[in-house]
Amino acid sequence: MKLTWVGSLLVTVVLSAVTAAQDLGPHNINGQGCLSCHNTNVVDPNNIGASFNFGTFDSQDPSFHSAVCLSCHDGSMASSGSLLAHDHPVSMPYPVGADGYWPGYVTTSGVVFKLSNFDQVYGRPLRFYVSYGKAYVECSTCHDPHNQSVAVVTINGHAYTKPTRKFVRGWYDISSQIGNSSAQFCRTCHYEQSNEAVGLNAPTI
Ligand code: HEC
Ligand code: HEC
Ligand code: HEC
Ligand code: HEC
Repeated sequence: MKLTWVGSLLVTVVLSAVTAAQDLGPHNINGQGCLSCHNTNVVDPNNIGASFNFGTFDSQDPSFHSAVCLSCHDGSMASSGSLLAHDHPVSMPYPVGADGYWPGYVTTSGVVFKLSNFDQVYGRPLRFYVSYGKAYVECSTCHDPHNQSVAVVTINGHAYTKPTRKFVRGWYDISSQIGNSSAQFCRTCHYEQSNEAVGLNAPTI
């Protein structure tokens, strides 16, 4: 029955959104759940610096959003040979609006990109950390430590649940032979490598 099928599809989507909130994967350390990293299950989003197991950081400080990862992860990331993970620079500002970068501006809490075809086909899944008017790239700019394999993203004003891996904060599916979502992830910042930079309004598949 078509209607039933549509109904169960909706249920699946809603359930995966709920699962997404707890897709901790290997971050559910010894089954401790949220307490693997936070000292409470109810984390105040406005004062997260106070709720970490690793001493107190200033949650306004961009480098906190790398330091907290490095409490457990080796700074060299030398555990495997995967592509950029080990040497992508962090703790540097994203020069939004500069020559060769996406146009937009920095707000008190992030970056507003000028709308383009890219927002229609991929969205802007990243989170930047602002200090003194500069938007910094840290580990959790690219990674959401809460969601290992799914990302809830906003594309063209609609929320979608998309596959990801390794806690990447966005649609990042390298299992698809014909897909381009992992390249699109990089293009979220690297304008010069984007389709739009050469005048192509290509979709994400
Ligand atoms: C592996 C470590 C880790 C685990 C486990 C973890 N968190 Fe977090 N949490 C973080 C980090 C790091 C941040 C800061 C996010 C950032 O830098 O953007 C954060 C931020 C938050 C925030 C602030 C809002 C936000 O998204 O930034 C809330 C709320 C939160 N966590 C709740 C939880 C809950 C509930 C759980 C259990 C389901 C959990 N966390 C498990 C590391 C963790
Ligand atoms: C409490 C310790 C702890 C903290 C804090 C922590 N992690 Fe992890 N993380 C782990 C463990 C344990 C694993 C699984 C073993 C491994 O891959 O090293 C893991 C695995 C990962 C993986 C690989 C996942 C996969 O699918 O293979 C990524 C990516 C990752 N962490 C990123 C982060 C980032 C980014 C932060 C900060 C926002 C962070 N982690 C904070 C303990 C932690
Ligand atoms: C510019 C985006 C970006 C930044 C910044 C970034 N990462 Fe990653 N990281 C990725 C991507 C993308 C992957 C997945 C690569 C792949 O496809 O396996 C990854 C993979 C990883 C892995 C898994 C490595 C493996 O071989 O399984 C770990 C652990 C990790 N990152 C931790 C970190 C930590 C800690 C930081 C901060 C010091 C950080 N990352 C900063 C994008 C980023
Ligand atoms: C959050 C924004 C952001 C994302 C997402 C991002 N980058 Fe970068 N990347 C930067 C910035 C900023 C720099 C430093 C300035 C520059 O070289 O443009 C940089 C530099 C680089 C460099 C030069 C490194 C060096 O040491 O000179 C490479 C290579 C690179 N990125 C590859 C990637 C790849 C591959 C991806 C996707 C997996 C990616 N980036 C995703 C922001 C980003």
